[in-house]
Amino acid sequence: MPVQAFPEGFTWGTATAAHQVDGGTWNNDWWAWEHDPRSPCVEPSGDAIDHWNRWPDDLRLLADLGFGAYRFSLEWSRIEPEEGEFSTAALDHYRAMCWQCLELGMQPVVTFHHFTSPRWVAADDGWANPATAERFGRFCSRAASHLADVLGVVCTINEPNVVSFYGYRGGVFPPGERSSERRRQANHVFIEGHRRAVDAIRAAAPGVAVGLTLSMTDYQAVDGGEARVEKLREPMEDVFLHATEGDDFLGVQVYTRMLVGPNGPAAHPPGARVTQMGYEFYPQALEACLRRASSVTRGAVPLLITENGIGTADDAERIEYVETALGGVLACLSDGIDVRGYTYWSAFDNFEWAFGYRPTFGLVAVDRATFERAPKPSAAWLGEIARQNSL
Ligand code: BGC
Repeated sequence: MPVQAFPEGFTWGTATAAHQVDGGTWNNDWWAWEHDPRSPCVEPSGDAIDHWNRWPDDLRLLADLGFGAYRFSLEWSRIEPEEGEFSTAALDHYRAMCWQCLELGMQPVVTFHHFTSPRWVAADDGWANPATAERFGRFCSRAASHLADVLGVVCTINEPNVVSFYGYRGGVFPPGERSSERRRQANHVFIEGHRRAVDAIRAAAPGVAVGLTLSMTDYQAVDGGEARVEKLREPMEDVFLHATEGDDFLGVQVYTRMLVGPNGPAAHPPGARVTQMGYEFYPQALEACLRRASSVTRGAVPLLITENGIGTADDAERIEYVETALGGVLACLSDGIDVRGYTYWSAFDNFEWAFGYRPTFGLVAVDRATFERAPKPSAAWLGEIARQNSL
């Protein structure tokens, strides 16, 4: 394959989220859910990979590998453990992380909400309660003021479409409900929360790029499933894509495709390769979703790939996946689509929500007994692409 260069200034990063790596985040709704007999969680998050204590070495490792950005999240339940009580110590922890990223030459990409909410928020009807949007805005204002001079890029809410679907319709995320009406309500509160967050962060940290991240799937109609695809997309993607108007970027997060027939999702095609998550190995989905995000938003919002990756025990398969996905990014760039960077999910093997620790998305393996980190060949491979800014 000939060398293909990415545009100057294109960013290369890896990502994590607090609850999946920090450990001991017992004051949020997910920790409670992991211990709830109604939940499908296979194991609790526990100590996770102890990133809360090991972050200085972890950041150095990622910078040494060649990455120029690190995406991580603030844990709201540590910063505001009870309503209106803010922890300066927790805010200082994240300040130190951002600072260290900058010193190591990595742009800190900070997510203010990645799936977890404090228990006090969940106890008051969580994201179905309009008051949560307001409370989240206040949290964003407080956190952004504390971090204003060390923030690089801010993602307000990670995949609100996933939390809303799995939490209020699919029963897999807390609060484990199964109602289309409650899902619609949660979508509405998330969008309001995002708008309030954008305003609060822009006011507290002027000049910082702020955007939403969205989980996107390459929905493909089969056997006349076109109308069904539109029906799925509307509450899952389109309402959120339309809510990004005026933002500084849209975070696109893609893992696979979904075949959809007239009655809903169809089986994988015969002989399909399936990942540890049970979905199809289909790296081409990234290109399709970037094109769709750009067309729905009419090219008005720059795109940043804030997550793309694969859960696999076969690291060569990870390289194959990312290489194909990056080929799709280059095709989008050559068609003039404004893609600003690529972030691999995840930096480390970590707590994969209801699936526990079995799926391994990491570029770096973590020994579950000793917490020892061991970079996989894909880490050096992608780090070198990052250094060269070319494939
Ligand atoms: C989430 C991550 C998750 C990843 C892999 C995304 O939906 O933002 O937290 O680990 O996908 O499933």
